[in-house]
Amino acid sequence: MPLVKYRDAGGDTFLVLEVDGYLYPRTSEEVVRGIKDVTIRDDDVMICSYPKSGTHWVWEITRCILSGTTDLVVAEKDALQLEFIPNSTLETFASPRILNCHIWYRQLPGQLKQKNCKIIFVSRNPKDVAVSFFHHHKKLRQYYEYTGQWENYLPLFLNGQVDSGSWFEYMLEWEAAIANNATQPILVLRYEDIKENPQREVSKIARFLDKDCTAEFLSQVCDKCDFGNMKRTKGHLLTSIDDKNDSVMYRKGQVGDWKNYFTVAQNEVFDRVFAEKMNQSSMKFKYEL
Ligand code: A3P
Repeated sequence: MPLVKYRDAGGDTFLVLEVDGYLYPRTSEEVVRGIKDVTIRDDDVMICSYPKSGTHWVWEITRCILSGTTDLVVAEKDALQLEFIPNSTLETFASPRILNCHIWYRQLPGQLKQKNCKIIFVSRNPKDVAVSFFHHHKKLRQYYEYTGQWENYLPLFLNGQVDSGSWFEYMLEWEAAIANNATQPILVLRYEDIKENPQREVSKIARFLDKDCTAEFLSQVCDKCDFGNMKRTKGHLLTSIDDKNDSVMYRKGQVGDWKNYFTVAQNEVFDRVFAEKMNQSSMKFKYEL
């Protein structure tokens, strides 16, 4: 398995899988190589996001809307994640499947674009993404073997030496793909907008999926998929706990937690890198509510 180790400024190492120049969490090289050939159905929905942008949350909302129920326990997003699950297993799931991934636009399965399947793209402000990813990397010791400190981790994130690579390049590629796309139905959501007004954003998802839902049902979906409720009902799942029995995927669920981590100097560096890399971008991010 082509595992690579990056060393942070404090000397701690961080383990990722590198396949053809792209970085993934520790998974099977064969599965990763098979992504381009994953079989796609007309009614598949694909949720795409850079890690830690709220994928579990949007996946759950989508599942409630498509299934017409607010029972959270049965299904699990990670069982339908392209980087981990081979096509042969994905094929055993009943339609409509809610596939998901953190791969670049260019890496999506070839059939997805031919079939014009619905894509939901989720973004989040990169400062909160960086903090959330730091905890993810430290908590999932079995994958990343990382024990470093925040101040040494941040340069790794800024340099794209993490799974899914550079947040900046990932977002720029998606922005261009969305802008140039003429036929693929793509709904773009922002984590902060869902936090700010869940009912409005959940209604948007329902409309995008052509589901005629009552306001009452959508309000129940918002309640059931609220952070506290999801953490209570799904936070114990095996893929979601660290070695201290703490939830990895449901940590704080807030906008602006970055302020508890970034020093003034780190924030200035981040803003400078952001300004340089994103100067052609028209995407807007909310850093607080
Ligand atoms: P934090 O680490 O900032 O708490 P992903 O699902 O893409 O891995 O994203 C995980 C982030 O989304 C984590 O952020 C997690 O707590 C947050 N999250 C998960 N479920 C949520 C929910 N129902 N409401 C708000 N945030 C949620």
